[in-house]
Amino acid sequence: MRFTIAIDGPAAAGKGTISKALASHFSLAHLDTGLLYRAVGAQVLAGADPLVAVKSLHPEDLKASTLRSPEVALAASKVAVLADVRNELLALQRSFARRLGGAVLDGRDIGTVICPEAEVKLFVTASAMVRAGRRHEELRRIGTVISPEQVLADVLARDARDADRAIAPMVPAENALVIDTSKLAIGEAVAEAITIVQKVIEL
Ligand code: DC
Repeated sequence: MRFTIAIDGPAAAGKGTISKALASHFSLAHLDTGLLYRAVGAQVLAGADPLVAVKSLHPEDLKASTLRSPEVALAASKVAVLADVRNELLALQRSFARRLGGAVLDGRDIGTVICPEAEVKLFVTASAMVRAGRRHEELRRIGTVISPEQVLADVLARDARDADRAIAPMVPAENALVIDTSKLAIGEAVAEAITIVQKVIEL
């Protein structure tokens, strides 16, 4: 069975949680594609050339705990504007999307570029204020000291870079269903996503 759920949206909108929950509920494989860009960004921060870094990417690199830091997030959104870097990551993401048994991928361009033929396309979003608040809380929990104002500024800068870039910008696919999690508890957002997917399966 080939069944792809494409989930796009800005940082801290809840797409990671929704993706994991869908993968677990429907027994699908899951790929957080942001980790690919974060792993390349982390190597660039350490002095590597972006193209060399992306060509030498190893599955183990996606497990590093440091990939969640704000510095790596910023570096990821910078390498993500590079056509060569994006092209290198295409084949891997496309074959994951169409793997037997089905898959959930979350990122910025899954429904538009990686898998336009996905059976389900969701665009998960929330207001910048709400997302910055969530990201600040997440960072606080892992011991990162950063002001709420700085987190909001980082969120807005990353949104602008991801949405305004020339190649594969973050934009809802034409036929994507939008889930706005600004006023939803995460459990409600997950329930809404499960209902959407279930309806497609029953068609
Ligand atoms: O989802 P994330 O916050 O982990 O993603 C980190 C950065 O990677 C994000 O700012 C933009 C980039 N990215 C992308 O350009 N395309 C994707 N499919 C996933 C992430």
